[in-house]
Amino acid sequence: MDKLRITGGPRLKGRVKISGAKNSALPAMAASLLTAGEVTLENVPLVNDIFTTRRLLRELGVMVEFEPDHSARLRAEKILSHEAPYDGCAIGARPINLHIQGLEKLGATVRTEHGYVEATAERLTGSEIVLDKITVTGTENLMMAASLAHGQTILQNAAREPEVVDLAEMLNRMGAKIDGAGTPTIKIEGVHELKGTMHRVIPDRIEAGTFLVAGAITNGDIEVLDSNPNHLTSLIEKLREAGVNIETGPEGMAVRGNGALKATDVVTKEYPAFATDMQAQYMALMTQANGISFITENIFENRFMHASELLRMGANIRIDGSRAIVSGKDRLTGANVIASDLRASASLILAALIADGVTVIDRVYHLDRGYEKIEEKLRSIGAQIERLK
Ligand code: EPU
Repeated sequence: MDKLRITGGPRLKGRVKISGAKNSALPAMAASLLTAGEVTLENVPLVNDIFTTRRLLRELGVMVEFEPDHSARLRAEKILSHEAPYDGCAIGARPINLHIQGLEKLGATVRTEHGYVEATAERLTGSEIVLDKITVTGTENLMMAASLAHGQTILQNAAREPEVVDLAEMLNRMGAKIDGAGTPTIKIEGVHELKGTMHRVIPDRIEAGTFLVAGAITNGDIEVLDSNPNHLTSLIEKLREAGVNIETGPEGMAVRGNGALKATDVVTKEYPAFATDMQAQYMALMTQANGISFITENIFENRFMHASELLRMGANIRIDGSRAIVSGKDRLTGANVIASDLRASASLILAALIADGVTVIDRVYHLDRGYEKIEEKLRSIGAQIERLK
């Protein structure tokens, strides 16, 4: 299993280019199943979650070809199988009750048998669906299903994430009639058929956010190119409150540390509030702030696993239910640590960048699910980081 070895110290300086959003590219790839026409995607990040989905789609009979320039061509001319094999999906366990309820509302029959969810329908029929809880992939899934249903669907309490908007734009270009994506109410007028299209995936806001924190924590000076600051307003506001200098422009963002970080509280919530996917990275930053910060996680349970690893590096963090209390500012020291999930891995890298000495991060396969060439990108702006095979 690969590990990362990081020697803390250098201030990061220079320019990095942000890849396409994995969480936009994943549903965009799935959307290729809705048409026999060819779908071309641009700006697809070359990360393991994407390769897993490519494998899955190929099993179903979709022709998928990736080009080195980050474009992908997909064609679901003939679907050969309707089974997503258990061993073909490493994206992790997540409840899907709301996806199932929504599909049932559209007229599907859904059963769970022998560990597989089996959904069947002739043609779905539009309906009004009120989601009990805001769900990103649930919203995306139902938007796709309703696009080819008979009649109108209204999705209430829909997720407003930029990835939902990106998918709606792509589906509309395929011939769907979706209105209101980006707001809590999405109206979908079902159509008979969707056609192929070309779509450029939006920049990865979480990767961009991670580099903003890298600039802030190392007191560095980084230009985060090919990113969209409009998707990161909560984070940018928080970082500014903490004393970090951030400039935004049409090409992306620039981050500059001012040497003194102020503790600021964050509460994770659905978009446009502070993203759960930035919580772990923000916690690493707050270990270096002056004062005490409260970090409240509202989206996922059990998403503080990075805290115990940060403690081993010398941080002062106490967990109280869904709240973490971080007392800064402690000197961190390099240690052997274990990454527990994708964003936790990023948090440990950030801590390692400013820790005294060497940190070795184990289980970086989590990181490889979602960050494209992160070591190369970090090295190019001055980090001392290498992969141990
Ligand atoms: N939920 C249910 N029932 C459902 C669906 C969701 O109870 O049927 C709950 C979840 O357990 C969670 C909350 O609703 O507590 C929100 O989950 P959501 O469905 O919004 O999450 P997701 O769509 O599975 C996406 C991202 C995650 C990101 C979350 C929250 C993708 C592929 N994944 O997950 O990204 O954390 O939204 O913003 O888009 C990551 O990239 O590392 C990652 C975990």
